[in-house]
Amino acid sequence: MIEKKIVYFDKPGYMNTDATLKLAVERCEELGIRYLIVASSSGETGKKAYELVRDKDINLVVVTYHTGFYEEGVNSMKPEIEEFLRKNGVTIVRQSHILSGLERSFTRKFGGLSRTEAVAEALRALFGHGLKVCVEITIMAADSGAIPIEEVVAVGGRSRGADTAVVIRPAHMNNFFDMQIKEIICMPREKR
Ligand SMILES: Cc1cc2nc3c(=O)[nH]c(=O)nc-3n(C[C@H](O)[C@H](O)[C@H](O)COP(=O)(O)O)c2cc1C
Repeated sequence: MIEKKIVYFDKPGYMNTDATLKLAVERCEELGIRYLIVASSSGETGKKAYELVRDKDINLVVVTYHTGFYEEGVNSMKPEIEEFLRKNGVTIVRQSHILSGLERSFTRKFGGLSRTEAVAEALRALFGHGLKVCVEITIMAADSGAIPIEEVVAVGGRSRGADTAVVIRPAHMNNFFDMQIKEIICMPREKR
C-alpha cells in the first residue's frame, strides 16, 4: 500500500495551469517517470511545461489539435512557439483525435453518438474534461510512436491551460482496454 497526495482544485480551468504543471513534474521526478505529455492547442501550456523540465531528465511530448480543428488546413499552435519547442527538442504530436475520430463527422451530419464519443462524454462527465484529455493525448502520443508503453504523466485542461494530471499506463488505440490510470495527481473537484 502507498499513500500519496492528491490536489483538488475548486473549479476547472486555466487558472490551475501553473500548479498542475508543477505537481506533474514533481510526480515525474518522484517516480522516475521519463515522459511528460501535455495538451497544448496554442502552444502556451507546452511552453510553460518546457520551462519546468528544461534542466531535468524528462522528455516532454506536447500534443496539439489536428490541423483543421478550427479552420481547414490551419494549425492551432502558434508557429513561433512550435519552432521554439522543436528547436529545444520537444516532441510535438499532431494527429486525428482518438476520442472523436471520423465518427465526429457522422455525429455532426446525422446526429446520435458513437461508442467512441460515448467514452469521451462519460470521462468528461464523471472526471472532467481534463482527465478525458489525459486519456486521449496519451493514446495519440503512443500511436505516434512519441512515447514507449511505460508509465507516463499526462496533463490536460478545460479548453485552455491545464487542471488535471495523472500517472497513466498508455495503450494504443487498438488496445484501449489495456490502459490504466494509476494515480490522480490533481483534478478539479467541480467538473462543470
Ligand atoms: C487532442 C486534444 C483534445 C482536447 N479535448 C478537449 C476537450 O474535450 N475538452 C476541453 O475542455 N479541452 C480539450 N482540449 C484542450 C486541452 O485540455 C488544453 O486545455 C489545451 O490544449 C491547452 O492549450 P493552450 O496551450 O493553448 O493553453 C483538448 C486538447 C487536445 C490537444
